[in-house]
This record gives sequence, structure tokens and C-alpha cells, in this order.
Amino acid sequence: MEVIIRPNADAAAELVARVIARELRANPRSVLGLATGCTMESVYARLVWMHREEGLDFSACRTFNLDEYVGLSGSDPHSYGYYMNQHLFRKVNVEPRNTHLLDGMAADLEAECARYERLIAECGGIDLQLLGIGRAGHLGFNEPLSALRSRTRVKALTPTTIEQNAPLFGGPEKMPRRAMTMGVGTILDSRRCLLLATGEDKAAIVAKAVEGPITSMISATALQLHPRCTVIVDEAAGSQFAESAYYRWIFENEPKWGPFREASPLLGENGSQVERPREKKRLEPAAGRMAGRSRQ
Ligand code: GLP
Repeated sequence: MEVIIRPNADAAAELVARVIARELRANPRSVLGLATGCTMESVYARLVWMHREEGLDFSACRTFNLDEYVGLSGSDPHSYGYYMNQHLFRKVNVEPRNTHLLDGMAADLEAECARYERLIAECGGIDLQLLGIGRAGHLGFNEPLSALRSRTRVKALTPTTIEQNAPLFGGPEKMPRRAMTMGVGTILDSRRCLLLATGEDKAAIVAKAVEGPITSMISATALQLHPRCTVIVDEAAGSQFAESAYYRWIFENEPKWGPFREASPLLGENGSQVERPREKKRLEPAAGRMAGRSRQ
């Protein structure tokens, strides 16, 4: 596992988007595992920007989302299907038939979960799995005690998750009580994992996920078993790490992070977001800053 600490949430999201873009350029047929939640919104906004301004091409990629609420159809504004259309799918050139989500309205939920696992396998497995983290440390909806080898299935949501996500539904009573989610084992099977966490309220759980003992009580700790996992945080979410000096050293010195160290056209010198350029208008970078800069 590697941990990268960026100065703020914009810079963290920017790095995540650049890693995804690099993967997609290297392999346009990539199978991307996608996540939802507020944290991901700025990642998707950047991917949309890269599509429009830098020609990032989604036409051959395949996508699988982590999870979906039971009882919600993709046209329900609270569903993750709707979220994905709003934030990414309808704004880039991904083929709708290549985007996969669990069907929250499926009559046979178990069969739906089995179908999803089969489809992932038929596509050759997930190349890059994007992940957020819930306040109690879940990945997708892998709530406490999710088996570390679990596959896609239905999970009952915990009171903490209901409390965390209820504001988006206009109150806890309006929230579904169950969801379908890729299992921890499904996530661990992906070839690369990329977890993004920002904000102070994630600091304690991210520190446990990265540096604490592996436990099914916190499904994100299972990422310690993954051979290629990168955790990207902002200063606030990274404020409780014991080994942050080491993590900073890695990003500043390891050659593979070189292309990502330079300032981005979307970020100012201090790493905070500059005004987003309007559609189709190319942002002119500050003189000299782009010289020799790779497009990642
Ligand atoms: C939900 C999703 C998770 C996501 C989490 C964090 O519970 N099922 O996949 O990681 O929210 O969301 P946020 O980014 O809003 O904190």
C-alpha cells in the first residue's frame, strides 16, 4: 500500500483523476470500478474536464459501480445510477451499454448479484477500482463484519451509514435499509485500488484503515492485503497518520510519482483550485509552468 498526502481536497481529487486518466490512456479498454459519494464528485468533474479539454477518451472503457440501494431504480434521483449519469456518464463519451450498475429493482436480488460477478469476470476483471470510505470504514456498503472474502451481495445498512447518508434523502426514514455491494473479495480481486478520502471527519478512520490491524469490522483495512493499492488523502484526512513523514517522502521522491508532482492546469501554485475554464475554451497555463510537462 502507498499513501499520498496532498495539500487540500482539490489537489487530492486532481491526483486521483490524473491517475485514472493515465490508466485510461495506457489502456483505452480499461475496466474501471467506480464509486459514489460526495468525495467523488470533484474527481468526476475533473475527468469531465479532461474529456472536454484534453480529449480523454472513454469510448472503449467498461465501468462497474461498487454498489446500489435496494428498492431504487436508476432513474430515482437518490440512486447511484442517477448519480453516475449526472456526474460522469452523460458528460463523457462512454457507451451506455458499457456502464454497469447493480439493479436495485431486481426481483431476485441474489441472482442479480451473481449476474454482476459473472459480468465482471466476463470483462476480464476490474483494472482500476476507485474507492471512497464511509465514516465507519466501509468500502462500498461492506458494513462491519463483512467477510474479507465476500462477493457481491445484499447488506443491511448500519445506523452509522444511515445517519451519514440520510441528509441526501431528506431524512433517515426515507433511506433504504439495504443495499447491494461488491464484496470485499470482489474489490480485492481488482488489479489496482485507489482510495480517496478528504476532510477531517475521515482522519481517524483512514488512519485505522491504513495503519491499524486488519479486521472485518472495518472493511477498508482489507486493502492492506492488496498488492497494488494507493490511498490518496488531503492534509485534513491525513492528520492522524503515525508515519506521515514517510508517506510524504514517497510522493516527493519516488520516480513513478514524478509526472504527477508538477502543478496541474486546474490548480494554483498553493494547490487550491483555480477557476474552472468554460466548456471548449482551453485554459492557458502560466508561462513556463507547462514546459516539458507530461499530459497526465
Ligand atoms: C457511501 C458509499 C461508499 C462511499 C461512502 C462515502 O456509503 N456506498 O462507497 O465511500 O458513501 O461517501 P462520502 O464521499 O460522501 O463521504
